[in-house]
Amino acid sequence: MISKNIKAKLAGGSAIRKMFEEGNRLKAIYGEDKVFDFSIGNPDLEPPHEVAEALVDLAVNPTPGMHGYMSNSGYESTRSIIAKKRSEESGVEVTSDAICMTVGAAAAMNDVLHSLLDPGDEVIVLCPYFMEYNNYVDNHGGKIVKVATGDDFIPDIKKIDEAITSRTKAIIINSPNNPSGVIYPAELLKGLNDLLKSKDHVIHVISDEPYIDLVYDGATVPAALSYIDNLVICFSWSKSLSLPGERIGYTLVSPRNADYEDLTGAIVLSNRTLGSVNAPAIWQKVIEKSLYAKVDVANYEHRRNLLYSNIVDAGFDAVKPGGALYIFMNTPKGMSDADFAAACAKYNLLLVPGKSFSGEGYCRLAFCVSEKTIRGSREAFFKVAEDLGIEHRTAL
Ligand SMILES: Cc1ncc(COP(=O)(O)O)c(C=O)c1O
Repeated sequence: MISKNIKAKLAGGSAIRKMFEEGNRLKAIYGEDKVFDFSIGNPDLEPPHEVAEALVDLAVNPTPGMHGYMSNSGYESTRSIIAKKRSEESGVEVTSDAICMTVGAAAAMNDVLHSLLDPGDEVIVLCPYFMEYNNYVDNHGGKIVKVATGDDFIPDIKKIDEAITSRTKAIIINSPNNPSGVIYPAELLKGLNDLLKSKDHVIHVISDEPYIDLVYDGATVPAALSYIDNLVICFSWSKSLSLPGERIGYTLVSPRNADYEDLTGAIVLSNRTLGSVNAPAIWQKVIEKSLYAKVDVANYEHRRNLLYSNIVDAGFDAVKPGGALYIFMNTPKGMSDADFAAACAKYNLLLVPGKSFSGEGYCRLAFCVSEKTIRGSREAFFKVAEDLGIEHRTAL
């Protein structure tokens, strides 16, 4: 007999996974080019050339012990070069002991939450949010507390204040955001820090940053390290180097964090006891050699522009995302996200209802799909608008 908790989760399933299966079913019936599947956020660009070069170099010039066990926090040489980069970007002096190399951002989040939470502790999330946070928090006995954001998806400090209790242990922020694509301004980070510092117990900010390098229109993401004291960063190269299958990332505790000593030690211990032991050795070395490389961000920006135009030209509304890989479009007034997704599916246009992200009234579209799919979908957006009596803003 498996655990009741897991049994309930198995029964619930994942909306995105179901959509993925529906996409495959439709492609088998209508053909690949007749199905416009925007449901899955799988980065589709190849990693930059620096990654392959580093891999070749490591294979051709191996060093003794390079496949062996290591410190649970990862290689000192990798952590210190990351510390240097983060220090340069934030103006906050970070040392290598602040960092623990992890098996992607998902493991980083689990390491941090395992280190922080006692049963019943509360973790604030800002809607809409990446739904896996529910599992990450639940894994370690925590309780999710949801706080709404505004129409622009920017959090409201007053609402966060109202949600804080004596059991609040942490708040998760994610900028650029999945699913909304918004970038949190420096003012907001400052305001959040002021609010949290005014409380009589330490509340940690967990900054989940897998999209920090995917930003458009020349924008920069204000460094959470520069503005927030009780901070822990969770990062991965799943998106910035297109390595989601390789599982490589890290945690970084701010040197200004009131629990710095305990928390850095706890995260390394959690990394071991939760079963990762350490992050993949080869990938730590690859990162060391390609830390300043990035995927072709302009390519994502181009596709964001095309998909955004399809949506607004057809007559729908959406906040233009400043980063990440998604557009969180508004469903037409008075229509539920599930009904809108169903209306789109009639034309083989697959979107994920916002409910999956605690964002009712919206649907998420991932633009990491081929340009051909995005261009091909334009007519479908126009047809859905016509069916719903929505006036187009431009001609097809
Ligand atoms: C907001 C957010 N956090 C964390 C993750 C997990 O990333 P990783 O593949 O590094 O575990 C994802 C993956 O899509 C994500 O969108």
